[in-house]
Amino acid sequence: MTQINLVQRLNSTEPGWTINADVIVIGSGIAGLTAALSARAKGLSVLLLTKDVLSTSSTSWAQGGIAAALGPGDSPDQHFQDTLEAGAGLCDQDSVKILVQEGPAAVRRLINLGATFDLDSAGNVALTREGGHRRHRIAHAGGDATGAEISRALVAKVLADPKVRIFEHALVLDLLKDKFERVCGVTLHVMGKGRIDGVGAALARAVILATGGLGAVFEQTTNPLVATGDGVALALRAGTTVADLEFVQFHPTVLWVGPDSRGSQPLISEAVRGEGAILRNINGEAFMSKIHPMKDLAPRDVVAHAVHEEIIKSGKPFVYLDGTKLGKDIWLNRFPNILLSCQEIGIDPLVEMIPVVPAAHYASGGVISDMTGRTDIPGLFAVGECASTGVHGANRLASNSLLEGLVVAERIAQHLVDLPAQSEPLIDNIPSNLIDGKARKEITATTTKGAGAVRNSQGLQQTINNLAQLATKTTNLASTQSWEATNLLTVSSFLSNAALRREESRGSHWRTDFPARNDERWLVRIQGKLNEGKLELSEKAIGKK
Ligand code: SIN
Repeated sequence: MTQINLVQRLNSTEPGWTINADVIVIGSGIAGLTAALSARAKGLSVLLLTKDVLSTSSTSWAQGGIAAALGPGDSPDQHFQDTLEAGAGLCDQDSVKILVQEGPAAVRRLINLGATFDLDSAGNVALTREGGHRRHRIAHAGGDATGAEISRALVAKVLADPKVRIFEHALVLDLLKDKFERVCGVTLHVMGKGRIDGVGAALARAVILATGGLGAVFEQTTNPLVATGDGVALALRAGTTVADLEFVQFHPTVLWVGPDSRGSQPLISEAVRGEGAILRNINGEAFMSKIHPMKDLAPRDVVAHAVHEEIIKSGKPFVYLDGTKLGKDIWLNRFPNILLSCQEIGIDPLVEMIPVVPAAHYASGGVISDMTGRTDIPGLFAVGECASTGVHGANRLASNSLLEGLVVAERIAQHLVDLPAQSEPLIDNIPSNLIDGKARKEITATTTKGAGAVRNSQGLQQTINNLAQLATKTTNLASTQSWEATNLLTVSSFLSNAALRREESRGSHWRTDFPARNDERWLVRIQGKLNEGKLELSEKAIGKK
């Protein structure tokens, strides 16, 4: 393994101020907001830190919905089977059982809390299908604005509670630990407050990471660009174990807006296919029917793979999504925001096919945690996309992520009773450093090229060599750009090395030099830690606790 010198502690000025709360929650998606409410339900004061504004998160951008066995004829057992099939052999079955069994009641609690879901003509929650689901089990809101509605309802609850203190534009730098190695707070920078005045410390009896994903490590993503893998990177620096980072899900239908498009890209929800749209290649042929019995609603990895193959075959940078048979009502009422995105680039999906391409969408791996959010460091919890509970395996089933964030964030509550008293952070002398913010472009370019949707040994090794070079571009100048570049380099190094090590194709990990799934060798999770700036990867057999 080519060693990359990674930063073990982010360089910053000394914290100029300190704030206290019982619990710190980092992130304001469904996982973070629900975790904050769980802590409040136990009577604890909360400091909620969010990198943008409270209402901006991957959750608030979620279109399709939240999956749960709510419909007639459906059952948690069928949801379990579909989740395992999408996960391609790597799901933790005990975790999936909890998710699917507790999911329906958790969604009902969300409704009682104030989230308004779309209803069918009989007044029941309307359910649609997405890739990999054999049943209609995706609840949606505002047509294609499910996440925005969930976020609205949860934000309203959080804002109504004076015991939740909120810091927006807060970039968390590192975790603080006490002399017993228990997490007892964080250092953070409040962006816009200046390099010196902006840096502070927050102390608490427990810290909950709900920082979302790492899509910004790729050149094109459906994530907000604040998704720079901060939670995974800071957890690694604190000594936590991370797993499954090679499994980054590429969403098969992202609006193609031109060859030079970079950054956050508009998503065309899988629910559009759930309502009948089909993929066609450049010659107008409906190719998914030849590939999988579930056709256009095959699991997401299968569809993304097929779209890529078509793109390679045709030499054109996109395929088409044909939603011209859906009709005006569906477009206007079910997909008003997607309709708008298409119209903004001059496409009328009522009469024209939509050019689509895969883009990075969801990290199935993250900080290893259980279904109550516990990590391997006392006092530190992780939930949502930054966590790895084993629920998603090698490929997350569509719309299981909002559900996971909700279910696990509620279950954290059981550990928020009898928290130890606030302890003092230990002053240590771990050397700190930073990657120059200017390296970000090169980090994302090399990650996309060698460790993107399609991988092979040569490309991955080249990416790792490039990252090792970029790791030498250090700076003393602490800034949001350099903190983010450092986090991006850390997560890309882990992801690329894990992808190189896994010599097979499985779920969202696709190796052209090892095109087959190999259960004899690779029914393992690749996990790793950071030790004095060096990544140490190991393997753990599936099913072993
Ligand atoms: C979508 O609406 O297609 C995205 C749903 C998801 O990622 O779960």
